Amino acid sequence: MKLTVAIDGPAAAGKGTISKAVAREFGLAHLDTGLLYRAVGAKVLAGAAPVEAAEALVPADLAPEDALRTPDVAQAASRVAADPEVRAKLLEFQRNFARREGGAVLDGRDIGTVICPDAEVKLFVTASAEARAERRYKELIGNGHEVTPEQVLADVKARDARDAGRDAAPMVAAEDAVMLDTTELSIAEALDRARECIRLKIK
Ligand code: CDP
Repeated sequence: MKLTVAIDGPAAAGKGTISKAVAREFGLAHLDTGLLYRAVGAKVLAGAAPVEAAEALVPADLAPEDALRTPDVAQAASRVAADPEVRAKLLEFQRNFARREGGAVLDGRDIGTVICPDAEVKLFVTASAEARAERRYKELIGNGHEVTPEQVLADVKARDARDAGRDAAPMVAAEDAVMLDTTELSIAEALDRARECIRLKIK
């Protein structure tokens, strides 16, 4: 079976939670493509050149997940992600992953539009900036980061603007994506909707 599920949307909308859960339930492999850009961003913060860092990326670079999920790395990721050459270096790996035997879920910003325009299922997961910032704030505090709610909201808005405003693969819903606004939804409700979309396609 070659089923590709593309899940896009802005920061902290719930893509990660939904992607992991549906991958587990439907027995699909999962790739959090944000981690690729975070890993490149982290290398750039450590002094590397962006395109070279993207070219030299190996799976082990994605392993220190906690270190990649900091606010500084998120901003660095969003800056390197605006570079079309960086994106080009990461394209083939993502396309190959998407078409692997057994099916795959990929979450990111441009999966349904650029990486896998032919994905069988496309979801665009959103929520208000305030709701997303609140979720991200709790997550960061829970992981021991010292941040304020105001900082997190400003970071989320800055990243939204950069990700949606760039010329290279801007964050935008594919025309055929199902929109899922999770502002007022619990995780269980959001998951129900996502599950339903996948079931309809694999029937
Ligand atoms: O987890 P969160 O939603 O905060 O962010 P992420 O998915 O880890 O992505 C970090 C950054 O990588 C985003 O702000 C984007 O700039 C970039 N990104 C991208 O450009 N394209 C993707 N497919 C995934 C992430």
